[in-house]
Amino acid sequence: MQKFIITGGCRLSGELTLQGSKNSALPIMAAALLGEGESVLRNCPTLTDVYSASRILSCLGCKCSISDGNAVIDPCGASGSEIPEELMREMRSSIMFMGAILGRTGECTFSVPGGCELGPRPIDMHLAALRKLGADISDCGGRIHCRIAGGRARGAKINLPFPSVGATENIILCAVCAEGETIVNNAAREPEICDLCSFLRKRGADIKGDGESTIVISGTDKLHGCEHTVMPDRIAGATYLSMVAAAGGEIILKNTCTAEMEPFLSVLEQTGCRIYPAENRIYLRSGARLRAVRDRIRTMPHPGFPTDAQAVLMAALATADGASVFEENIFDCRYRHTAALCKMGADIEVLGKVAVVRGVPKLRGADVEATDLRGGAAMAAAALAAEGTTCLSGISHIDRGYEKFEEAVSSLGGRIRRV
Ligand code: EPU
Repeated sequence: MQKFIITGGCRLSGELTLQGSKNSALPIMAAALLGEGESVLRNCPTLTDVYSASRILSCLGCKCSISDGNAVIDPCGASGSEIPEELMREMRSSIMFMGAILGRTGECTFSVPGGCELGPRPIDMHLAALRKLGADISDCGGRIHCRIAGGRARGAKINLPFPSVGATENIILCAVCAEGETIVNNAAREPEICDLCSFLRKRGADIKGDGESTIVISGTDKLHGCEHTVMPDRIAGATYLSMVAAAGGEIILKNTCTAEMEPFLSVLEQTGCRIYPAENRIYLRSGARLRAVRDRIRTMPHPGFPTDAQAVLMAALATADGASVFEENIFDCRYRHTAALCKMGADIEVLGKVAVVRGVPKLRGADVEATDLRGGAAMAAAALAAEGTTCLSGISHIDRGYEKFEEAVSSLGGRIRRV
């Protein structure tokens, strides 16, 4: 089991080019399974989750190769409809292949990935929506079998009870090849959904309204190949900015999706960091001690404050002047990083969905273990700000979502080693 050894206490400084978005690349890879023709994805991040997605595609009969930040996917001849349990377990987001497989073959068998990383992650909304599109769904000993009579989904009106990102993506993936029109009300508005739709439109799909609450999809049986550049990763961006905010110093972040990062940037700015955003780059300088954020930081679906940035911002606010209050409204169990931050000297009190972070003058290095992706990144950010050395284990979580993490941190002058 690999670890990061991080010695904190030095200012960070440098330029960083942001990686492609994990949460955009994964559904786009699933979408490449539909129709015919080769999809070339540029700016595809090199991450363990992307390799897991590639293994799922290969297992379904797709040709998929990844090198130098490009993924090339050819679905010609892909007739598989089953995802083996071990591949489902590799990556929780394997669930988003369900809509695409169903769209392609009219049939799909998979298992629900277990575990409790961020609390229970049910798939009831995914299944209810696929039923509306014509799927019969049965559960046999944990293996879920979906089948559409006649092989082709039928358009439907779907009202989501909550704007779930994954459910919205699964509906789009299944409806894009359906017969007729699908209307999704209360759809998720995350930028990664827009990136998925923009990829599918390049392939010939007819989708309108993405980025808004109602998405209208007119099904087609003709999707062709295309080239697409995966959007920048706004959460990796939030992570590196929080890291520099926490440790002090300056950064020029390049290849950003600045407008999409606004809900995060507007909160970070309240800490007193100087932020100069341009269209596709962000300059941040962090000098004296950060200020606590006065208003409650409520995680909400986009365009609210992103849940994925909650942990990394908390690491920065752990040493701010005053108390900041977080309210986690998306996941039930997304404060697991707080125990590690407290071990490093932070003063954080968790009461249900609320976490009160009272800034302390200094953090100190400790032995801590990442229990999830963003929580692990938060521990690394805290370690860079802390006095002394931190031994961070469980870093396979970090490798799921951050491309060449230690190279990125080292390029800013952070002292980090993988052992
Ligand atoms: N939910 C249900 N039933 C469902 C689906 C979701 O109750 O059928 C609940 C979930 O349990 C959760 C809430 O709805 O409490 C939101 O879940 P959502 O479906 O929106 O999230 P997701 O699709 O599972 C994606 C990202 C997450 C990100 C969330 C919220 C990917 C691969 N994952 O997850 O990213 O936190 O949206 O923005 O896109 C991460 O990158 O670290 C990460 C966890």
